[in-house]
Amino acid sequence: MLEGKRITLGITGGIAAYKTAELVSSLVKAGADVQVAMTTSAQKFITPLTFEVLTGNPVHTDLFQNDFSGGVLHIDLAQKTDLLLIVPATANIIGKAANGIADDLVSTLIMAATCPIMFCPAMNVAMYNNPICQINISKLKDCGYHFVEPASGRLACGVTGKGRLAELTTILQSIDQILTPQDLAGLKVLVTAGPTREPLDPVRYLTNRSSGKMGYAIANAAALRGAKVILVSGPTHITPPDLVDIVQVETAIEMHDAVLKHSDSSDLIIKAAAVADYRPVEISDHKIKKQADSMTVPLQKNPDILGNLGTRKQEKQVLVGFAAETHDLELYAKSKLINKNLDLLIANDVTLPGAGFDSNTNIVRIFWTDGTIEALPKMEKGQVAEEILDRAAKILRTRRGES
Ligand code: CTP
Repeated sequence: MLEGKRITLGITGGIAAYKTAELVSSLVKAGADVQVAMTTSAQKFITPLTFEVLTGNPVHTDLFQNDFSGGVLHIDLAQKTDLLLIVPATANIIGKAANGIADDLVSTLIMAATCPIMFCPAMNVAMYNNPICQINISKLKDCGYHFVEPASGRLACGVTGKGRLAELTTILQSIDQILTPQDLAGLKVLVTAGPTREPLDPVRYLTNRSSGKMGYAIANAAALRGAKVILVSGPTHITPPDLVDIVQVETAIEMHDAVLKHSDSSDLIIKAAAVADYRPVEISDHKIKKQADSMTVPLQKNPDILGNLGTRKQEKQVLVGFAAETHDLELYAKSKLINKNLDLLIANDVTLPGAGFDSNTNIVRIFWTDGTIEALPKMEKGQVAEEILDRAAKILRTRRGES
């Protein structure tokens, strides 16, 4: 996500300064070019050498260290960056920024930057709750600055409350969100993911091999691109992305109900779930005991959720389905695209290495209603998610007369 991005990190003087080493390491691993500027107080908690080693770049500590390719350090640094991060953001730097004070390198960078700026406050709970600090934060938010709320817990000063630096994953997700073009802002996207479980008795159920990874990747990518995302998920082992509203379901009937509740108000629906086609006719309320050498379980058909969505599809709504096949992929994909009244059908041959259910990658073919078939190469599921969203967004824009 951060390949080729230039991120400048301003570190100020709080104990959470030591946590920025891990943040910088993650940013560099994600492909960002990271420049670090430190206040004098920050250097009391962690040394510039740590960041020089982690970033491979010189660390900037002095406003008047005018050796930056012949330019003016704070102007060059501020303008050649895609994102300015202030971590940890103390009450002091927040106060200075809110009042236009630029008396050292980090505060001057904030004044000079024209890129997005994100503050991650970390301080004692009383300082954070101090009305002056809160007024300063509101003022900065009103000016368009981004904030990642501190977490609650035991603080370094021994007090328990709100003021701990937000978790690294939360900070990284906010960075991704800020740097991702918000082309789905204002849209509601409904995604389904995972398998369904059809109970047989209190200890057994029928299910399938779906891991949910593809649907979760789509939900996360859509949320990062600015959509309001509802993720209706069957049972999986994946931690739900922070940015989506998750509805956990178990059976196909529950998924059907949850999807219908949100479908009419959704602009885009992507049905990546592997829904069980049949469920046991009866659910025994006690454990079924073994008796004869063979047994037959009568099954009845589940509702075809996607088929129903196709029947009630609204004029400007875009509907995307999946087809996981083991043979005759093209034949089945084309018929599902038409029979279920879809706008796109994403098909994969689950027998291919790298395209199976629990894989981190997928190899998909995209079927369009005009007969076009696009064969994408093997990709990480996150990248496949972006490709699907790009195409769905294009159809949506055309349908809305936007391009
Ligand atoms: N689907 C659904 N409800 C069902 C079955 C499938 O919404 N009861 C959706 C899936 O989420 C997927 C698409 O329909 O987006 C295709 O699912 P798939 O299982 O491949 O197709 P089926 O229609 O069930 O046909 P078959 O099992 O015969 O291949």
